[in-house]
Amino acid sequence: MSRKLRVAIIGGGQVAETVHASYYLTRNELDVVAVVDSHTERAQSLANRLGIPHAFSDAAEMYRQCQPDIVSVCTPNRFHHEHVLQALENGCHVMCEKPPAMTPEQAAEMRDAARLAGKVLAYDFHHRFACDTQFLRDQVVAGVLGEIYVTNAKALRRCGVPGWGVFTNKELQGGGPLIDIGIHMLDAAMYVLGFPAVKRVSAHAFQKLGNRKNSGQFGEWDPKTFTVEDALFATVEFHNGGILRLETSFALNIPQQSVMNVEFCGIEAGATLFPAHIYKDEAGQLVTLSQKETADNNRHFKSMQAFVDHVLGAPVSIADGEQGYLIQQLVAAIYLAAERGESVEL
Ligand SMILES: NC(=O)c1ccc[n+]([C@@H]2O[C@H](COP(=O)([O-])OP(=O)(O)OC[C@H]3O[C@@H](n4cnc5c(N)ncnc54)[C@H](O)[C@@H]3O)[C@@H](O)[C@H]2O)c1
Repeated sequence: MSRKLRVAIIGGGQVAETVHASYYLTRNELDVVAVVDSHTERAQSLANRLGIPHAFSDAAEMYRQCQPDIVSVCTPNRFHHEHVLQALENGCHVMCEKPPAMTPEQAAEMRDAARLAGKVLAYDFHHRFACDTQFLRDQVVAGVLGEIYVTNAKALRRCGVPGWGVFTNKELQGGGPLIDIGIHMLDAAMYVLGFPAVKRVSAHAFQKLGNRKNSGQFGEWDPKTFTVEDALFATVEFHNGGILRLETSFALNIPQQSVMNVEFCGIEAGATLFPAHIYKDEAGQLVTLSQKETADNNRHFKSMQAFVDHVLGAPVSIADGEQGYLIQQLVAAIYLAAERGESVEL
């Protein structure tokens, strides 16, 4: 057997531990050799917990000493761009957490750098790896839904402002629910639709509750430093004539605690994503064409698996640099449209 590929993780927080390191440790072909975190004690403590041999506070030192083949970037959004470029310069394949970056220009630079280096760059848009999403994409390609002209994507929380990390800090995070959770349903919807070309977007963003309340489903936050939107509503118009409506919130007075789903309305049939359910109307009656009982929740490990298999040469699709760029471009256009109060052409 060829030698094991060496893996390093940059940013030793929650997602690094529960998703990236935990998945890599299940693969015999990989050796997780290092964790880097700007807080040395975090890097050391994660390394100790998971039995990873090296911990660093400086990524350059890690590259010098460990020479990894694969790097996971799990730092706050603002640092993705520099950490991905540094990993590619050091000859590594990269799995980067979402969102790709802070701007479409950065995401384009990351895509181009990966192409130039001939290395894999994947983003952890994990909802597209659920069986439900894969199944619906196949059904859409097979024409079961017919022309899809309305898509409703929702990533809503009634009071789910994250009480940890930097999720309420616009400067470090780039935005609120749109860039944190809305982006996931946006990616899943675009994936199922086959990334149709976008014509224009319009949007409204609000900051009404996050700067007034201070506790919720995910702990406490400081309303005085809440600088992101707490709810955002957007309409994306495609060149093919269809529209995608996106609703996303950290805090919004709705009856459900959380909604993460996408609804597709086609000429032949409609569908919801989680769990996958395809239906149509027959003389006023809802008829189910196919339905899964429960949604597949093992999406995160499937996303990691797709990345590792792809690196190892399997013909598996990933959320790549180009798709990461297209999603980042859409997010930027939505924020711009909300800020200007008028639609933005792409
Ligand atoms: N795909 C998903 O569903 C999902 C879920 C959670 C988080 N994320 C993403 O993962 C990233 C991290 O989120 P998290 O929840 O793990 O946050 P976290 O705050 O738990 O962890 C981030 C870690 O990065 C470290 N760090 C900060 N700046 C650094 C730097 N310049 N160099 C090295 N380390 C640095 C911090 O000390 C911290 O330990 C974010 O981009 C977030 O959007 C994605």
